[in-house]
Amino acid sequence: MSSDTLLAFDYPQQDSAGLTCTAQAWAKTPPHLEGTDKAAVIARIKQLLLEKDVALVAHYYVDGDIQDLALETGGMVADSLEMARFGKSHPAKNLIVAGVRFMGETAKILSPEKRVFMPDLDATCSLDLGCDASDFAKFRAAHPDRVVVVYANTSAAVKAQADWMVTSSCALAIVHQLNLAGKKILWAPDRHLGRYIQEQTGADMLLWNGACIVHDEFKAVELDLLMAQYPNAMVLVHPESPQAVVDLADVVGSTSAMIKAVVEGSATEYIVATDKGILHRMQQLAPHKKLIEAPTAGNSATCKSCAHCPWMAMNGLQGILDCLENASGEIFVDEPIRVAALSCIERMLDFTKNHPDLLAKAQHGFVKNIGAA
Ligand code: 13P
Ligand code: SF4
Repeated sequence: MSSDTLLAFDYPQQDSAGLTCTAQAWAKTPPHLEGTDKAAVIARIKQLLLEKDVALVAHYYVDGDIQDLALETGGMVADSLEMARFGKSHPAKNLIVAGVRFMGETAKILSPEKRVFMPDLDATCSLDLGCDASDFAKFRAAHPDRVVVVYANTSAAVKAQADWMVTSSCALAIVHQLNLAGKKILWAPDRHLGRYIQEQTGADMLLWNGACIVHDEFKAVELDLLMAQYPNAMVLVHPESPQAVVDLADVVGSTSAMIKAVVEGSATEYIVATDKGILHRMQQLAPHKKLIEAPTAGNSATCKSCAHCPWMAMNGLQGILDCLENASGEIFVDEPIRVAALSCIERMLDFTKNHPDLLAKAQHGFVKNIGAA
């Protein structure tokens, strides 16, 4: 990689009292229901989902009970790309999106005729928080020659300024094609994913300086020690992780790519470097495989940095019931912003639908030590 093709835009990140402060999110983590209370809430949710024509869509990082409920009621548990696709194509009149804010907004942008609800509207994302729409407009205006590619983890107001939206499962394939077409890229907001894609594609990319507070916590030194303990384990890393961690991976990929790697892989042990919420679905799909959480710096200090997103953790059964009983947590997106944001999302959905071959090929790029690169 030549250093002059990878430029970082030095966006100031606030400290723990500012943009990435998670104390408020942890304080709102709902109580975990047990026994008959839990059974009663689940039964009522099931009844109301049917009665009110609502589909429940959940991300792999939310509580396992919510993931199970989504599957049991004909909804979906998925990565952010499949959540968007499912929400758009499902015939239900209403959606409940259990995940973080940008996922609910994407569903609403794609399906304005549906009412979209979230268990807690304060569930956000450090990447979204760290990419203010008006600052982003200045960044974009300073580089009018670049194609604007934004990660799904951004606000509708940022997407409204983009040419392309991508998720971690299609970013590599899309940027690869843009690079082949001779385009220079302006990328936001995740600097680690941007760096990884730049390395893989050789594209000329100017990067926003954002990070995911969960994946940024994985430590290569600790991972190296764990790998020595489990020498036969396959190492799976989400590309929002720092370069030194990505460099140790056998598989670098989106949440769905990591699940696929476990289900299809020949190894019996897997070290998983992403939000630990994913282990629930992964273990269901691969019950005989041993799954090991990758270490963060916080493992020996505080469980609050143990690879679980504080905003994903805000999704609870009671919040889902409130959506259904009280129409709480409804997502609204201003119509001019929605219309402006729609085209970059549709461009991604069209690309992923029309080019499964390119997606599969790019996935081989993610899978470093298996198959063709
Ligand atoms: P996926 O697109 O892989 O689901 O990731 C979303 C996310 O927020 C990862 O932290
Ligand atoms: Fe955002 Fe990271 Fe949470 Fe994903 S895990 S929603 S990128 S803060």
